[in-house]
Formats: sequence, structure tokens, C-alpha cells
Amino acid sequence: MTERFSFQIHATDGKARRGTITTPHGKVRTPAFMPVGTQGTVKAMFMDDVRSTGADVILGNTYHLMLRPGAERVARLGGLHAFSRWPHTILTDSGGFQVMSLAQIRKLTEKGVTFQSHIDGSRHEMTPERSIEIQGLLGSDIQMQLDECLRLPATAKEIDRAMRLSLRWAARSREKFVAMGGPEKGQGLYGIVQGGDDAALRAVSAAELASMPFEGYSIGGLAVGEPQDVMLQMLDIVCPLLPAEKPRYLMGVGTPDDIIKSVARGVDQFDCVMPTRAGRHGLAFTRFGKINLKNARHADDPRPLDEESSCPAARDYSRAYLHHLVRSGEALGAMLLTWANVAYYQSLMQGIRDAIEEGRYADFMAETSEAWARGDL
Ligand code: GUN
Repeated sequence: MTERFSFQIHATDGKARRGTITTPHGKVRTPAFMPVGTQGTVKAMFMDDVRSTGADVILGNTYHLMLRPGAERVARLGGLHAFSRWPHTILTDSGGFQVMSLAQIRKLTEKGVTFQSHIDGSRHEMTPERSIEIQGLLGSDIQMQLDECLRLPATAKEIDRAMRLSLRWAARSREKFVAMGGPEKGQGLYGIVQGGDDAALRAVSAAELASMPFEGYSIGGLAVGEPQDVMLQMLDIVCPLLPAEKPRYLMGVGTPDDIIKSVARGVDQFDCVMPTRAGRHGLAFTRFGKINLKNARHADDPRPLDEESSCPAARDYSRAYLHHLVRSGEALGAMLLTWANVAYYQSLMQGIRDAIEEGRYADFMAETSEAWARGDL
């Protein structure tokens, strides 16, 4: 029998939580980092290597997959798990954020958003119902409501309007999810907290969503240009208002430092393009901090990125070779650095989980920050 969506908390340390999300496609150890697989691929990686780094879940994007190759086509080909050959948990974003950041011409109404594709200019309509339908066709285990994510800075009036629209879309998304049989399939739907950098509006959004029956709660509209302390303040307000027994997902975050500080405030899930995008641009994340492999100082360096890493890309290749590949624009440079970066993020999450279980999360945070600050590269 396939398992249904559930969340169990095994240990807490302060506000940090160590748990497991169960979905029809497996178990997700939390706090979890979800590598971004926008187009049904974690760019420049084989799925087996993504899995070998310790990832339990990847993220797919409604917006991109509806435009190309099309949700109905993916469904005919067996769903996104089979199509992409990732048999583990998949979380999909609803498209709200991507329409705002990528589509060319947009018109937002109560009903939804019409936009022109950034690929070929074709016209499309996205409603809360259509987003859930697409996520169902993809076969996503953890689905997101359609929301409106504003760029900051924005006026309080604009933030209020977008937040309340997102709440109405949350209710419509839930109705469609239930009508599609999501709960019977064991899938989960998350509501998304909005409210910009306004504490009062964040509190309204969190409290209203908490009164609706979602399997989990996302925190959106952050890491969109505001300083880190504003983001952390918003988490301090929002997390205590969300149901303690449900998972919390901070969307699009972030740097390793953002992640450890957000876990301390009660966040369970993260996604970000940072490790994959940085890898394609010659930047490595390690235990000791960031290393820019484009830099000439690596040209003669025989040392690997991290001799103690369990990832072959980080452990077995010299910095000199990685520098050469990056400088030469070779595909393998992007592949190895992406792999090393995803592996680093996953090892950070494993360290976080172990520390929470052992009741030493505060020490773990201090030691981790200290190692980055030492920059022993
Ligand atoms: N990804 C990063 N931020 C957001 C957000 O606010 N909403 C959605 N849907 N996705 C996001």
C-alpha cells in the first residue's frame, strides 16, 4: 500500500525540529534541503548522484513544465517521477512566483493570472485550480497553492492586497486539491504565508492559513531582496502561529547561513538554486566557506575541495583540474562543482539533523559559523 502524507517530529532542540515527512514516494528526513529540478532535471546532475548526496526530495516547477513539455504530456508518459527517473518524493511549486519573475506580460485578476510564455510568447492562463490540476498531472507528492509573491520594497497597501488574494487562492486551491482526490492519493498541499516585510500582515496571513486544513505550510515572499535580519524577524513572527505538528517550508532559501538560522526558528524544509547555479558558475561551497574556482590562485593547487567529503567530486579532483575545467568552459566543470555543492548542502543538513537529535544545535551553529569565518581554504 502506498503511504499517505504524514509528518512526525522525533526530537526538538529549542525551536529546531528533527522529523520525517512520509509521502507516497518515500520518507523525507527534516530539516531537509530540496535541490531544485525546475525542468525535471537537477541541472548538470544524474539523478543517481543527486540521491547519493543524501537528497530525499527534489523540487519541480509547474510554470516551466506546463509550458514545456506540457503537463498532459508528462501525465501520458507516466508522471514526473517516471519521466525524470526520480522515484523519490517530488515537491512542486505552484507557478505563482515564476509567472511574476519570468513571464513577459502578465494580467492579474481575482480569477488568476494570464501571461505570455518567456519561451515563445504564447498566451496562458494560470488559476489556483489549474495549478493544482497541473501538479496532479505531474504526480507531485507535495503541492503548493497558487500565490502572489511581491517584490520588495512594496507599499503596505500592495502587500495587504496580495496577501489577502493569496488567502482566497489558498481556499480555492484546497477545494480543487480535495476534488482531484489528492488526500486519497496520499499527496499533500501546502498553503503559503505572504505579507512581505510587514509583521502585522505576516501574522494575519499565518493565522488565517493555520485555520485551513493544509498538510504543511510554506513561508513565501522572503529572500526577495530584504536584509537577512528582516527575514529572520518574519520567521520569529510566523513560525509560532503555524500548527506545531505540520511541516514548515521556507521557499527559495538560501545560503548555508540563512538555513542554520532558519532551522533555529523552526523551519523544516528549504529549496534554493544557490548550490546548483553557483556550481555552473565556478563557485564551490565547502565546510570552510566558498571557493571561486575561476581564481588564478587555484591553477597549481593539487588539493581537492574537501579531502574528507564522501562526494567524489569534492574529494577526488584537484582544485587545479577544477580551475582548468571552469576556465575552459568545459561541461564537466559545471557537473563536478554542482555535485560537490549539492553534496555539501546535504552534509550540512545531516549535521543539522544530528545536532538537533543530540541536543547540541546551538553549539553546532556556533561551530559551523566559526569554520566559515576562519575560511581555512
Ligand atoms: N519561491 C520563492 N518564494 C516563493 C513564493 O513566495 N511563492 C512561491 N509560490 N514560490 C516561491
